[in-house]
Amino acid sequence: MKFITVESYAELSRLAGEIIASQVKEKPCSVLGLATGSSPLGTYEHLANAYKAGELDFSNVTSVNLDEYVGLDGDNDQSYRYFMNKNLFSKINIPMDKTFVPNGCASDLKAECARYDALIEALGGIDLQLLGIGLDGHIGFNEPEEFFTKETHEVTLDPSTIEANARFFASKDDVPTSAVTMGIGAIMNAKKVLLIANGKGKKDIMQKAFYGPITPFVPASILQLHPDLTVIYAEN
Ligand code: GLP
Repeated sequence: MKFITVESYAELSRLAGEIIASQVKEKPCSVLGLATGSSPLGTYEHLANAYKAGELDFSNVTSVNLDEYVGLDGDNDQSYRYFMNKNLFSKINIPMDKTFVPNGCASDLKAECARYDALIEALGGIDLQLLGIGLDGHIGFNEPEEFFTKETHEVTLDPSTIEANARFFASKDDVPTSAVTMGIGAIMNAKKVLLIANGKGKKDIMQKAFYGPITPFVPASILQLHPDLTVIYAEN
């Protein structure tokens, strides 16, 4: 594991952006695993700026996102599909039909989860997976529980996650109570993993996740076993 501590969110975003940019330059047909939340916003801005400056070409890139709220379609401004379109896809030249986000509105969510895993497998897996981390140690929406779940699955969101994500919604009652998330299997199978975290509030969970015991009660702790993991933390 490479654990990098930086001084500021700007530095975190620049570094993470450069790592993703290098991946795309080295392998133009990369499969990028992407994340939502506030942490990747600066990274996406860096990538959009690099594209604008003519330094990056996403025309052969495919993206697979980690998760989506159940019941929110892509037109809902709180959905992760909407977030990705707004903050990254509309600003770069990735073909929209090569951007994938789980469908939280599928009538058969079990079938949707199986479809998503089959899609990732058909793509040959993920080259570089970008992750944030929840205050309870979740990655994607893999919440703390008694075991790690390998496959894409539906999860009931932890009350602390609902609380943390309420800031994006009009009220806490508007936060969906469940989500579809990529499982630990596809994340751990990614060739490279890049986890970014920002702020003092994440200090405890970062300590637990990367220097504590590996346990499904801290889902991110499994990443300690990943052969090519980079963690960037801006404590500020
Ligand atoms: C959400 C997402 C996670 C993300 C987490 C942390 O719950 N499902 O993928 O890592 O939030 O978000 P933030 O970066 O805003 O702290």
